[in-house]
Amino acid sequence: MPSYRSPFRTMLLVLLLAVPGAAVAEAGGPFVSPIDSLTDAEIADGQSHFRVHCARCHGMLGQGGEGPSLTRADLRHAPDDETLFAVIDEGIRGTGMPGTFGPNDETLWQIAGYVRSLGRLPQEAMPGDPQAGQAIYEGKGGCPACHIARGEGRGVGPELSNVGNRRNLEYLRRALTNPDADHPMLSDWQKGNINAFLTLRVVSETGEYEGLRINEDEFSVQMRDLAGAIHSFDKRTLLDLERAFGHSLMPGYETVLSAGEIDDLASYLMSLKGTAP
Ligand code: HEC
Ligand code: HEC
Repeated sequence: MPSYRSPFRTMLLVLLLAVPGAAVAEAGGPFVSPIDSLTDAEIADGQSHFRVHCARCHGMLGQGGEGPSLTRADLRHAPDDETLFAVIDEGIRGTGMPGTFGPNDETLWQIAGYVRSLGRLPQEAMPGDPQAGQAIYEGKGGCPACHIARGEGRGVGPELSNVGNRRNLEYLRRALTNPDADHPMLSDWQKGNINAFLTLRVVSETGEYEGLRINEDEFSVQMRDLAGAIHSFDKRTLLDLERAFGHSLMPGYETVLSAGEIDDLASYLMSLKGTAP
C-alpha cells in the first residue's frame, strides 16, 4: 500500500472527495475502494465502456490480444484498486497501454470494477481433500523439486503460491494429467502470445541449458534451469536457441496417481491463494 504521504494517494483522495457518489475515504481513515460498493448494473456499464474503449486491444471478454489478458486476479501493474484506477486513467508509460479517453471518475471506477470482476474466479467446490493433497504434493508427488509454494521448494517450474487465484479446477486437473496441453504451440507464438510458459534449450559457449523461459526481449533471454538457477543470455552470442513448442518439462501424473489423488492435489492447489512474489 502506498503511504499516506504519497502524492498519488493524496491526489486520489482529493478526487474521491470531489466526486459525488464515489466512496468517500476520510482523511487518515482506511482507503475504501469504490469498487466494493458497485452494483451489478454499474459493473455492466463498466463492461459497455470496456467494449468500446479497451476490447480492441484486450479482447471482447478481456481474454487478451494486442494487450495482455485481464482475466487474472494478479495484475502486474495493478496490485490494488488504486493502482488499477491509475493504470486505466493514465496508461502505462513507455508501453502500448494508452491513457484515458477522458471519462469522469465514476466511469473509470465502473471500468475498473469490471476489470476486477474478470479476474475473480468463480468459487468452485473442491473435488477432494486439500490436506491429503498437501501430503501428496510434499511426498510421492515430489512437486517441491520443481515448484515453490509458500516459500518451500525450488526448481524450474512456476511459483504456485497463488495458483488458486490464477487457475480454475479444470485447468489444474489438466496441468497435472496432461502438462503439454497448455504449453504454447508454434501457432500461439506466431499469433504473438509470447508471454506464456515456454521450454527452451540453449547452447552457449559455456554449455547447454534446458529450462523455462522467464523473460525475453529482442536482445536477451532469461531462463530458469532444471535446478532452479537463473541464467541470462545475450541472444547474439548464442550458438543455438530452440523453443520446444508443445513440450512441457513437467511430467504427467495420470498414470502415477489415482483419480482420487489428482482430486486431492487439485484441491490443495485451489487452496493456494497467497500473493505472488
Ligand atoms: C492500444 C491498445 C490498448 C488499449 C486501447 C488499452 N490497452 Fe490496456 N494494455 C495494453 C498493453 C499493450 C498493455 C501491457 C503494457 C505492458 O505491461 O507492457 C496493457 C496493460 C493493461 C493493464 C495492466 C495489466 C497488468 O497485467 O498489469 C490493465 C489493467 C489494462 N491494460 C486495462 C485497460 C483498460 C481498462 C482499457 C480501456 C479503458 C485499456 N487497457 C485499453 C494495450 C491497450
Ligand atoms: C520436473 C519438474 C516438474 C515437476 C516434478 C512438477 N512440475 Fe509442475 N510445472 C513444471 C513446469 C516447467 C511448468 C510450466 C508449464 C509448462 O511447461 O507449460 C509446470 C506447471 C505446473 C502448473 C501450472 C501452473 C500455471 O500457473 O499454469 C501446476 C498447477 C503444476 N505445475 C503443479 C505441479 C504439481 C502439483 C506437481 C507435483 C505433483 C508438479 N507440478 C511437478 C515443472 C514440474
